[in-house]
Amino acid sequence: MRACQLWFLCFVVLDADAQKVTSLEEDLIDSPFGNFFDPLKDLFDDKNDHPATVAKFSLRNPSHPDDDLCYIIPGQPETLAACTFNSTSKTFLVIHGWTLSGMFESWMPKLVSALYEREQTANVIVVDWLSSAQNHYVVAAQKTKAVGREIARFIDWMEETTNMPLDKLHLIGYSLGAHVAGFAGSHASNKVGRITGLDPAGPDFEGEHAHRRLSPDDAHFVDVLHTFTRGSLGLSIGIQQPIGHLDIYPNGGSFQPGCNLRGALEKIANFGIFAINDAVKCEHERSIHLFIDSLLNEQEPAKAYRCGSNDMFDRGMCLSCRKGRCNTVGYGTSKVCRPRSVQMYTKTRASMPFRVYHYQLKIHFSSKVNTSEMEPSLTISLYGTKGESENLELKLKERLETNRTHSFLVVTETDIGDLMMLKFKWMETNSWSVSNLLKMVSSWWSGNSDGVEVHKIRVRSGEKQQK
Ligand SMILES: *[C@@H]1O[C@H](CO)[C@@H](O)[C@H](O)[C@H]1NC(C)=O
Ligand SMILES: *[C@@H]1O[C@H](CO)[C@@H](O)[C@H](O)[C@H]1NC(C)=O
Ligand SMILES: *[C@@H]1O[C@H](CO)[C@@H](O)[C@H](O)[C@H]1NC(C)=O
Repeated sequence: MRACQLWFLCFVVLDADAQKVTSLEEDLIDSPFGNFFDPLKDLFDDKNDHPATVAKFSLRNPSHPDDDLCYIIPGQPETLAACTFNSTSKTFLVIHGWTLSGMFESWMPKLVSALYEREQTANVIVVDWLSSAQNHYVVAAQKTKAVGREIARFIDWMEETTNMPLDKLHLIGYSLGAHVAGFAGSHASNKVGRITGLDPAGPDFEGEHAHRRLSPDDAHFVDVLHTFTRGSLGLSIGIQQPIGHLDIYPNGGSFQPGCNLRGALEKIANFGIFAINDAVKCEHERSIHLFIDSLLNEQEPAKAYRCGSNDMFDRGMCLSCRKGRCNTVGYGTSKVCRPRSVQMYTKTRASMPFRVYHYQLKIHFSSKVNTSEMEPSLTISLYGTKGESENLELKLKERLETNRTHSFLVVTETDIGDLMMLKFKWMETNSWSVSNLLKMVSSWWSGNSDGVEVHKIRVRSGEKQQK
């Protein structure tokens, strides 16, 4: 298999002309070699392109977001009018991913409705490549390129026929569909405006060359939400590496709240082992629901912050918005024009609206004794002009060091307004260990207080950008 793929790579290099490669492949398939290649025909993406089509383009209607009532057929301009395509308006191409059922999943009408809610005059076109997407994953993944090319031809035809400017074209692809969108963008004659990748698929794409997956070259702006990048057995459902101009990792790109293991286990207890799909789906699909949320909650968009790593973000070290360091999550994301990917992080709630309010707490502890063996449980309560949020846990990521400033991230689900007061609570959790007991006794004996003092607490709000 590898050898064959290499063969064709050679042809590409020699000819540098897709047309010739196609005819070469056809020649080969017709030749005595053809039989040899037969079982591999599916791998040659050009082969299936003509005349059989693999993608259908359904312009959905705002009042029937669930139904395919009108197909736009490339080469038949009258279908544009018949489907009431508005060529001066924004156009969305929604591209689904791999499917076991061969049917659209329940998020599809929700996303279509949300797009129409936000952009009333838009054309929301659902790309139906279910027939190819319901193969084994590996086969479906190989078909993404052929489907992408077909969409590219559709885009070229629409541009020629309607004179629509391509900066009004926004491709939204989920899972494998994100890579389909990438191939569509890279094969279209002119660059499309935007591609949003919703948890782009990882297997067969992670670590691949930019030409073989979604990449920043595929559109003027490529933004990506990563929600299931937790690897297991070296495989992650969603791609881990950054592949856009802007890559946002909500909750570090894994362990989405509300999709927890306990929930999954409960489901398995109730519905059997097949429910494990639900747990996977919950995190993978979270990317779509975050995007839908961003369409519907325009007034209160969630923010993401640029950071060197998720670990640094979890310590609250990256809540600045200066020089483009923060951005809006989802639809309202502002375009980032850097050649290299910008990675951003955010926390979310378990359900819609997903936004939370991020705070950085910098606390300076001072003490005469060595505190590094202490494992206190630290909580904070914030009281503001609009509300309060009590007993938020401060997670100690490292040993507590005396005479040093520690930084923490806390989030509140409610908007507390401007911070007026805070309560800080320290609870010693291992005070019954022998060494600590000894220390307590000795400090008592020597008349030293074992007290740890909180010297200073500084608070910075991410959303308000206030200290
Ligand atoms: C087409 O879209 C434009 C702007 O997006 C809007 O002003 C116009 O009313 C729309 N036309 C129809 C027939 O809906
Ligand atoms: C922390 O600093 C204070 C004052 O500067 C000093 O007295 C104390 O010994 C220091 N504690 C440790 C453990 O170094
Ligand atoms: C505090 O204790 C830890 C381990 O018990 C030790 O590694 C560290 O050097 C001590 N620090 C000071 C300032 O004595």
